[in-house]
Amino acid sequence: MKHIAILGSTGSIGVSTLEVVSRYPDELRAVALAAGDNVELLAEQVQRHHPERVSLRSAAAAEELKRRLGREAPEIGHGEEGLFAVARHASADVVVSAIVGGAGLAPTWQAIEAGKDIALANKETLVMAGPLVLREVKKRGVRLLPVDSEHVAVMQALSGHQHHEVRRVMLTASGGPFREWDRARIEQATPADALNHPTWKMGRKITVDSATLMNKGLEVIEACRLFDLPPEKIEVIIHTESIIHSMVEYRDGQVVAQLGVPDMKAPIAYALTHPDRLPDVIQRLDLARIGALHFYEVDRAKFPCLDLAYQALRMSELTPAVLNAANEVAVHAFLDQKISFYDISRTIAEVINLEEGGTARDLAGVLETDRRARIKAREVVDRISRRS
Ligand SMILES: NC(=O)c1ccc[n+]([C@@H]2O[C@H](COP(=O)([O-])OP(=O)(O)OC[C@H]3O[C@@H](n4cnc5c(N)ncnc54)[C@H](OP(=O)(O)O)[C@@H]3O)[C@@H](O)[C@H]2O)c1
Repeated sequence: MKHIAILGSTGSIGVSTLEVVSRYPDELRAVALAAGDNVELLAEQVQRHHPERVSLRSAAAAEELKRRLGREAPEIGHGEEGLFAVARHASADVVVSAIVGGAGLAPTWQAIEAGKDIALANKETLVMAGPLVLREVKKRGVRLLPVDSEHVAVMQALSGHQHHEVRRVMLTASGGPFREWDRARIEQATPADALNHPTWKMGRKITVDSATLMNKGLEVIEACRLFDLPPEKIEVIIHTESIIHSMVEYRDGQVVAQLGVPDMKAPIAYALTHPDRLPDVIQRLDLARIGALHFYEVDRAKFPCLDLAYQALRMSELTPAVLNAANEVAVHAFLDQKISFYDISRTIAEVINLEEGGTARDLAGVLETDRRARIKAREVVDRISRRS
């Protein structure tokens, strides 16, 4: 039996994780849950899973949860202290890191320090502080497994092969809702257009990241760090059906791919129980019914965020943290209709050139870089929004 803590239990990954937990009660148990503001859903999750400890972002939300649950209430915390207590919860073996954005880094760090294994959906953790986090993982002797379907695919495609024989990793991308739109039309895209993802049902921020292809850019950075590969060995290819989750080509020309129906429960379950596999986690793949798989090159002029991610990787160890902060600020401004779709990449391009990168000495240094980059990004966004 594995005991699980979930950071971000009310989000898309959190909910899918609890679905996996519900289906395999003899293997998995949720012992601690942390959410942001969704009191109603967290209350339902508590009633169903009976965790020992939960946390919400604000004191008011925590009070409201206490009131709703009455005598059924577990230990309820709030704010950073409550979140960190969930991350370090004594009886948890694995912590699912599924908070969205840079806010996921500090609690994930807490979990690693407390000796927990990590199932990492929060790719921002490795984008912001990859080398530092991976050093800490090693130092504490814990295991960090990705939850991103692409990285779970690469991990499986690398298994049993020699690292120095890898010629390239091909990360697949659905192409998002704007794959077939021309640049002029994308320039006019609204938040509703960007949130209309063709294959995956995800949180709002990652859905916009999928429309700009910044999600793939963040995944390129995550892959370099996780698999210790240089950026030139990571490529991105559009694959519209999202059946091949990624591939690795070896020096003899052979390619190893991982396939499956697009359902996040597969990588979540894999990360929770590796090296064991739970039975029948997802629907079986029926390739004859699917008939054909399609692949396209990325139109890099239409999706400048992808090249910005490669650029950030090459600039300095900390520049990806700057890129991530600028992206988060810009995506929120786009969702609030303050800036246009392409203003997201314009903001990021400006901020990564303004803000000094450097090397990450410790977590505080990364968080300080993140804070400064957000201030600069807000200034850029304000200037752009005043102009339009
Ligand atoms: N969705 C996917 O299929 C997918 C696939 C691969 C990787 N990922 C990655 O997984 C992460 C989560 O994505 P998602 O799609 O699940 O996002 P989401 O649906 O927006 O959920 C985010 C979760 O984080 C919580 N949260 C946000 N800020 C918080 C804070 N300051 N303190 C505590 N909790 C906070 C939210 O709580 P409330 O809702 O209660 O406010 C919610 O539970 C992201 O890093 C994303 O890149 C997602």
